Amino acid sequence: MITDLVKTSGLEIQLDAAKPGLVFGKGINFSKPGVRTLDAMREVLLDKDVLEPQELYYMYRDVYRISDKALLENNKLRYDVTVIKPDFLGRELMKTAGHYHPGSYGELYEVLYGHCFCMLQKPKPNDHQVIDEVILVEAAAGEKIVIPPGFGHILINLGPEYLVTSNWVSSLFSSEYGLYKQAGGAAYFIIKAAGKLEFMRNPYFKKLPEIKLLKPAALIDKFGLAKGKPIYPMITEEAAKFAFLNRPADFDYGDVFAESVKKI
Ligand SMILES: [Fe+2]
Repeated sequence: MITDLVKTSGLEIQLDAAKPGLVFGKGINFSKPGVRTLDAMREVLLDKDVLEPQELYYMYRDVYRISDKALLENNKLRYDVTVIKPDFLGRELMKTAGHYHPGSYGELYEVLYGHCFCMLQKPKPNDHQVIDEVILVEAAAGEKIVIPPGFGHILINLGPEYLVTSNWVSSLFSSEYGLYKQAGGAAYFIIKAAGKLEFMRNPYFKKLPEIKLLKPAALIDKFGLAKGKPIYPMITEEAAKFAFLNRPADFDYGDVFAESVKKI
């Protein structure tokens, strides 16, 4: 099945679920996706003896309209698209490996297709086994997730469809996966049993707060973000709104999430 993602992304991209992967329109730069395999993820899984699926998700890094190349370089930004299968990893819902950013760099995610949780966790600066805050952001197509400085993050596909996300991020750093591997996963494992979600604490952590379930704010004016407004095209006229991605400490992040009426 082919699903057009142009409306949510603002770029000529299609999801080809049979491939699985993305099909890019003319004039768009892309390269072969990085594939996250089961073996590469085993350390961060609750059930380490899982046998399938072999391929979990596909990372298309540095996607852009060729005519926008200089804009991305001048603004020191990179745009990526990630395609995450709808499946289980043993008892766990399909998820990404998780990483922190060096320094205080944040990130901007957008859901292009599907339905997800983004689990954010903030460790104590001098002891990463103590987590000060765990935020679970529930988002669907068209919604934006701002990752504030200091938070590690994973994406969880709530299914039943593929999850496709895009992100803008500073091109000046590389993500750090080591602490998630050392911890054997994120703060909590999310499992589905008898159709119900359960949240299991990761015993690696000495201190874990309760999960705060939030949703993305529908409008974040200072960053130019609105539900349903694609973030890719902002690079041509509103790139200044992305200054928070390279100067994270200059901004306040108190308004990027909203209360959720749901309970977990
Ligand atoms: Fe990130």
